[in-house]
Amino acid sequence: MHTRETLSQLGKSKLGDYLFIVVSNREPYVHTRKGGDIKCEVPASGLTVALDPVMRACGGTWIAHGSGDADMEVVDKLGKLSVPPDDPKYSLRRVWLSKQQEDGYYYGFSNEGLWPLCHIAYTRPVFRESDWLTYKKVNHLFAEHVLSEIGDKKAFVFVQDYHLALLPRMIKERKPDTIVAQFWHIPWPNPEAFRICPWQDEILKGLLGNDLLGFHIRYHCNNFMDTIDRAIEARVDRERYEITHGGKKTAVCPYPISVDFEEIDREAQEEVVTAEMEKIRARLGLRDELVGLGLDRIDYTKGIPDRLRAMELFLEKYPDYRQRVVFIQAGVPSRIHIGTYKALNEEIDALVEKINGKYAAGEWKPIVYLREHLSPLTLMALRRMCRFSVVSSLHDGMNLVAKEFPASRFDEDGVLILSPFTGASRELTDALLVNPYATDHFAEAIRKAVAMPANERQRRMRNMRQVVRENNIYKWAGDIISDLVKFDCGE
Ligand code: F6P
Repeated sequence: MHTRETLSQLGKSKLGDYLFIVVSNREPYVHTRKGGDIKCEVPASGLTVALDPVMRACGGTWIAHGSGDADMEVVDKLGKLSVPPDDPKYSLRRVWLSKQQEDGYYYGFSNEGLWPLCHIAYTRPVFRESDWLTYKKVNHLFAEHVLSEIGDKKAFVFVQDYHLALLPRMIKERKPDTIVAQFWHIPWPNPEAFRICPWQDEILKGLLGNDLLGFHIRYHCNNFMDTIDRAIEARVDRERYEITHGGKKTAVCPYPISVDFEEIDREAQEEVVTAEMEKIRARLGLRDELVGLGLDRIDYTKGIPDRLRAMELFLEKYPDYRQRVVFIQAGVPSRIHIGTYKALNEEIDALVEKINGKYAAGEWKPIVYLREHLSPLTLMALRRMCRFSVVSSLHDGMNLVAKEFPASRFDEDGVLILSPFTGASRELTDALLVNPYATDHFAEAIRKAVAMPANERQRRMRNMRQVVRENNIYKWAGDIISDLVKFDCGE
């Protein structure tokens, strides 16, 4: 069994006197001004949810973009503070970006270029030279912070995601004795899809600065190996899953990311959650309806319109369920400066209005849309009070919402409807797997979920909980650290 303690011990024995540095775009704690007060919030991000417990176990420094409007007010001269604020376990070092840098690097190249390039959701990537140049500059800026943090010590730098593809090479060139690993949290597409990126060579060479490069599933590793094989001069060893470029080796391995099962399971059982469930029912005017739930960042990869259309068809085909089911879609606004995200918000608003206009009766309306940042307590209460939860991504590296759901259901009840285009579907085979593009099948899956007998719900939920319990976030991090040290020492 992998726990925070076993990871902490493993970290001490494997990392020895190496500094442990995590680098990501998104920070785990954001300070914002609310009226006269400064509030500390946890962002809606699978990456930070997963890495925070790892940092709590291992200690070290997390370097990330300081994006909150009060972030500067709570740090020291180096931009650092200790977190979590109520129980400090590690340091957060914030990197400051100008609006122009954030526009070009984060909104531009990362999220209008690489994000749609890697997700097959039929949104065309936009590649602007100016965004690319800013992306490079910001990767350099992150490199300066990492190198200043390391100083003359030895370090293990664990880079996260597609915002920082050039960083590994930059670190290796300046400080070759640093161990560098990266985890790519989103899918890696096939070579035909990837080659439309005008700067694919530089990106690939940047990534080959890593000693170890991790993806969620083997399929993405294979896509990456194929992309390298087609795009640049390198030796691709498919037996050992190693790439050699310019005399340097990079191991490529799958590590399915997960959640802190024990912590979620414990929090789910707190009395405050039951009280919160009551509050939500009262606030939304719910009686004894069955609740369906969607919890997402509002992103076009998540298939939110697709699930609403499936709900609409379900209500049309099965009128007996009208007034007996309420679907709560809770969504956190995301990347709203980008046109495709604005259009998605409008599409969702219009669909909710249309479906409610068609079926609402008296006090009852079929869809409740909460477009707001909800507290961890409210999210937990929602997960616990629903009969079924829907994760309908059109394409998703893993999707941790899918794993948080079974981790929260200590009552062994609830049905997960899950897209087969998520990494999570490889492990959660007791979910109802349904193609979100196939609206008819999707509506049938909803019907199956609401009509499923209690003993079948229990069997499926028990199995899913067992999978997440065994393959938790501590196993994920432990496997990466163990492999990396093995690889580096040539054991
Ligand atoms: O999981 C993929 C990911 O892009 C993470 O890197 C990121 O933290 C999350 O989705 C949320 O996106 P953002 O950081 O752009 O709000």
